[in-house]
Amino acid sequence: MNSLTLVIFGASGDLAKRKLIPAIFALHKEKLLPEGFAILGVSRTEFTDEAFRDEVFLKNDLMKLDGVDEESKSAFAKKLFYQPIDTSAAGDYAKVKNRLAVLDAELNLPGNYIFYLSTPPSLYSVIPKYLAEQGLNTSENGWRRLVIEKPFGYDLASAEALNRELQTCFDETQIYRIDHYLGKETVQNMLVTRFANGIFEPLWNRNYIQHIEMTSAEDFGVGSRGGYYDKSGALRDMLQNHLMQVAAHVAMEPPIAAGAEAIRTEKLKFFQSLRPITESEVSRFAIRGQYLSSMIRGQKVKGYREEEGVPADSITETYAALKFYVDNWRWAGVPFYIRTGKRLPTKVTEVVITFKTPPHTLFRNENGVSHLHNQMVIRIQPDEGLLLKFGMKVPGAGFDVKTVGMDFHYSDLTDAKVPEAYERLLLDVIKGDPTLYARGDSVVESWKFVKPIIDVWENDPNVKIYGYPAGTWGPSVADDFITGAEFGWRNPCKNLTSDDNFCEL
Ligand code: BG6
Repeated sequence: MNSLTLVIFGASGDLAKRKLIPAIFALHKEKLLPEGFAILGVSRTEFTDEAFRDEVFLKNDLMKLDGVDEESKSAFAKKLFYQPIDTSAAGDYAKVKNRLAVLDAELNLPGNYIFYLSTPPSLYSVIPKYLAEQGLNTSENGWRRLVIEKPFGYDLASAEALNRELQTCFDETQIYRIDHYLGKETVQNMLVTRFANGIFEPLWNRNYIQHIEMTSAEDFGVGSRGGYYDKSGALRDMLQNHLMQVAAHVAMEPPIAAGAEAIRTEKLKFFQSLRPITESEVSRFAIRGQYLSSMIRGQKVKGYREEEGVPADSITETYAALKFYVDNWRWAGVPFYIRTGKRLPTKVTEVVITFKTPPHTLFRNENGVSHLHNQMVIRIQPDEGLLLKFGMKVPGAGFDVKTVGMDFHYSDLTDAKVPEAYERLLLDVIKGDPTLYARGDSVVESWKFVKPIIDVWENDPNVKIYGYPAGTWGPSVADDFITGAEFGWRNPCKNLTSDDNFCEL
């Protein structure tokens, strides 16, 4: 692994403190960082190197430093440096260039730089341009990589514009678009489940699958992020990026190899196969909701419109449910359902594959009901794992069939640590592996798909936004979304259980 400097723009911000520095420290403790490694924090705040070390590391409550030995702490602190600049002033980028040159000389580093933009999106096209003006985009003396946080664009037009702007300063191979869901171990494992086993993939198509469902629920509200969230909403915040990327892992064709371009090309094909939802179809294929004030476990919980930074007449959705089809050979006619929301009963993300019943019914239970849909539940978080539900004969007379589960939980692995998404993603960009980063063309295709929904929700006052009491599973109209008498959403618990009856109180 090459030695390098990681330059974090927006280094005094929340993301750096909450996620980036803790993830890099975890890599440091596991001895996964290259021999020569420095972090240069850059932002407006006037810090010295020492003050920056205190702020983001030594006195950062989120670092969980209790029990960490002094030697390891001090070795890491010495890798942190800081350079204040006015990020909107082109001339100030010379300070970054000079500081990098000084650090290279002092620490004997080879001039490899990762520029990580952990800033407001308004700076995403500004910083790369000014870096390029300083010649910090070319990989002549050492390589250069650029990491962009989400949101990647606000809509189709802005995502396309951002791609163009970035690609005039940096080559696409240098650009790493973060989607932290791709860093989740369970999302990556989906590719292994499908393509490293012989038993699932033969069934993974329209002949055997009834429908596919994804739920990504959060039990908290928007908290202090109301100002940001109100301009975003659930569709932009979670669905267009994270959940569509997960859907791509569920539905893509087998790549020809496990490399970045092969995998990302198959994902692009998935996005290109999505059947467009036209504006006139939006009400049939998409449901939006917003949480209302309610009592949860004896406590009054605010409604979305009462949250700080949210206008009292906001029509921003805190819940979105979508039905769509993938028009290709494998998935023709199979409906996909995705829902996500804030202030739902629990925090959980899972994918449920519901299989078709056998072609001929031999066994009926006492109610005469003959349907038995096997299900595979892929638990993204928490209680990460996999559950397979199938029918078993109830012991005794007759042929009563009961659903039972076979499950695997990551927590059962005693010899493996499941890394945080940011640990994995940062290590990958350090190694120069973009597999788990979103490619520009896929991001644009995903925006294309959600565009009609965004347009209708924003511009058509006749399209309803449904209220749902905080702490419930969203608007009740969404309950009928999954058609067929025997179906409905699987309302998951925190724990991965077969029969949904171990929910926390
Ligand atoms: C972020 C969204 O991208 O993902 C947040 O902006 C959301 O609103 C978060 O809470 C969810 O991430 P995770 O990893 O906690 O599921």
